[in-house]
Amino acid sequence: MSAPQFTVNPHPAPASPQRRAEVLADPGFGRHMTDHMVTVRYTEGTGWHDPQVVPYGPLTLDPSSMVLHYGQEIFEGLKAYRQPDGSIASFRPDANARRFAGSARRLAMAELPEELFLESLSALLAVDSEWVPAAGGEDSLYLRPFMIATEVGLGVRPSSEYLYAVLASPAGPYFTGGVKPMNVWLETEFTRAALGGTGTAKCGGNYAASLLPQAIGAKHGCAQVAYLDAEERTWIDEMGSNNLFFVFQGEDGSVELATPDLRGSVLAGITRDSVIAIAKDLGITVVERRISGKEWLDGVADGRLTEVFGCGTAAVITPIGTVKHTGGEVTVGDGEPGPVTLQLREALTAIQRGAAPDPHGWMRTLVPAPASV
Ligand code: PLP
Ligand code: COI
Repeated sequence: MSAPQFTVNPHPAPASPQRRAEVLADPGFGRHMTDHMVTVRYTEGTGWHDPQVVPYGPLTLDPSSMVLHYGQEIFEGLKAYRQPDGSIASFRPDANARRFAGSARRLAMAELPEELFLESLSALLAVDSEWVPAAGGEDSLYLRPFMIATEVGLGVRPSSEYLYAVLASPAGPYFTGGVKPMNVWLETEFTRAALGGTGTAKCGGNYAASLLPQAIGAKHGCAQVAYLDAEERTWIDEMGSNNLFFVFQGEDGSVELATPDLRGSVLAGITRDSVIAIAKDLGITVVERRISGKEWLDGVADGRLTEVFGCGTAAVITPIGTVKHTGGEVTVGDGEPGPVTLQLREALTAIQRGAAPDPHGWMRTLVPAPASV
């Protein structure tokens, strides 16, 4: 398939260089959008059409658009990083494209071809490249592809029309504490996903359902919620926006990095998959298995569990300090980021920043380096 041609309709009044510099000095997460966005339409019978880069702005939606009633919405999250040579690259965007197509299948939506997904990112970045933070630091440009059902009507059935769009937002750390350990609420009443449900899809509905437990966690001073499986309320699934890893120390000093296996109710995180590969490269034993909430609490109490961290595109790798639950709280290790967590974090971010070799070929150039003069 040849590369789709995006029509570019430049913003008539983009942010001034001074305004952009102000935003990039303290981007936060998801607070500021760039000047442009991508839109592509799908119509049954015609397929994908009208790929465009347009000024960022409101969408016009008929009030009976299906997304507003039955929630056919999916999204992705990935980042663009300025590389030392000035080019802009993204981390495993092909994996995001495949997951997006998988989410579409689960929600009975039209699948966007992988090439069109990748091309949409390059098309947006070609126009908004100056919004990508400088190389060397941890800031990046967060990319948010999403798709909504736009057919008009109230019948409960898959829409025959979709809007795919991509937004871009300069991003600093997702958690304001940076690599400071966060507190986590271990939720025992509400679940995130059941086998056969939509937990493996990245759809807005999963996040809507997580907001009440997240608010409960926040009342207990926790930045994230760790969910147990829906069937037995025993096994750790993941957190509201990232996957979990546990570092167990054997009596002989051996280290095991464990993460819940993908049993069908956990989002297959691209960071999770990358952490597994990097840990193996570093000679760390990795196991994907069931881990119970009890093993977490007992492991902390008897000192076998020395580090826990969450990982995801937005969260990168964030250590967990204290885990709170209805029965009390325990603090992992001495409450400080552990050595395995920091080693993996450094290895991952060095690849993303272009500061270390990329042995797995994960980085993909979206905008080439400017021609030298
Ligand atoms: N789990 C959930 C529920 C998420 O929202 C995310 C974020 O995308 C992740 C895990 C981590 O996925 P990834 O590493 O692909 O960003
Ligand atoms: C991400 O890490 O990209 C996410 O999607 C997490 C969250 C902001 C929903």
